[in-house]
Amino acid sequence: MEYITFALAKGRLAEKTMELLEKTGITCEEMKEDSRKLIFVNEEAKLKFFLAKASDVPTYVEHGSADIGVIGKDTLLEETRNLYEVLDLGFGKCRFAVAGKAEIREKLERSNDLRVATKYPNIAKEYFYKKKHKTVEIIKLHGSVELGPIVGLSDVIVDIVETGSTLRANGLEVLEEICPVSARVVVNRVSMKMEHERISKIIEGIKSLGDELK
Ligand code: PRP
Repeated sequence: MEYITFALAKGRLAEKTMELLEKTGITCEEMKEDSRKLIFVNEEAKLKFFLAKASDVPTYVEHGSADIGVIGKDTLLEETRNLYEVLDLGFGKCRFAVAGKAEIREKLERSNDLRVATKYPNIAKEYFYKKKHKTVEIIKLHGSVELGPIVGLSDVIVDIVETGSTLRANGLEVLEEICPVSARVVVNRVSMKMEHERISKIIEGIKSLGDELK
């Protein structure tokens, strides 16, 4: 029997996913040990799990290095890969928003000359170009995007907001809502055909948790 391989986004998403899988009877003892290892095996169940940087998870799944991935909808929207998105896990909830200083609100509504700092250039383009029909300048950053409007790099940011505390602590606020985000299960297109039975069983097992998926 071949292994079914999971690619998980390192950190809280991976931890929550393993908690959930455990409730369906899927475990990986090796993963509970404190180590710097990146790949773990459950030999008996013929399962492998590896931990990757969130933005790389869709790449591993699209190329078939992993059969199943668990990733935030934010990364899926930004990466636009050829995958099956099969399940919303309901955790990792946050939302995409345009944020900035309160006084920029009017410029945001009227101006066609906005600078937008973001870790998510594709989502920002999609929102401003396609939805708002505005030509804005997108400035790509890799983290701490909230600095953009504070140091004068940008007028606004496009980012994920969870509790809103980073915005509040930096004198910024949500100006426009873009869309909700949560953790999703994705499956490689070939694996879905070749390992349909085993993969469906795993997905159905998670679905059967019902209300626990929140
Ligand atoms: C994310 C996001 C916001 C913050 C939102 O950043 O980019 O900065 O979390 O969460 P909050 O609404 O609960 O404050 P992350 O912690 O991933 O760090 P980064 O900005 O360095 O990427």
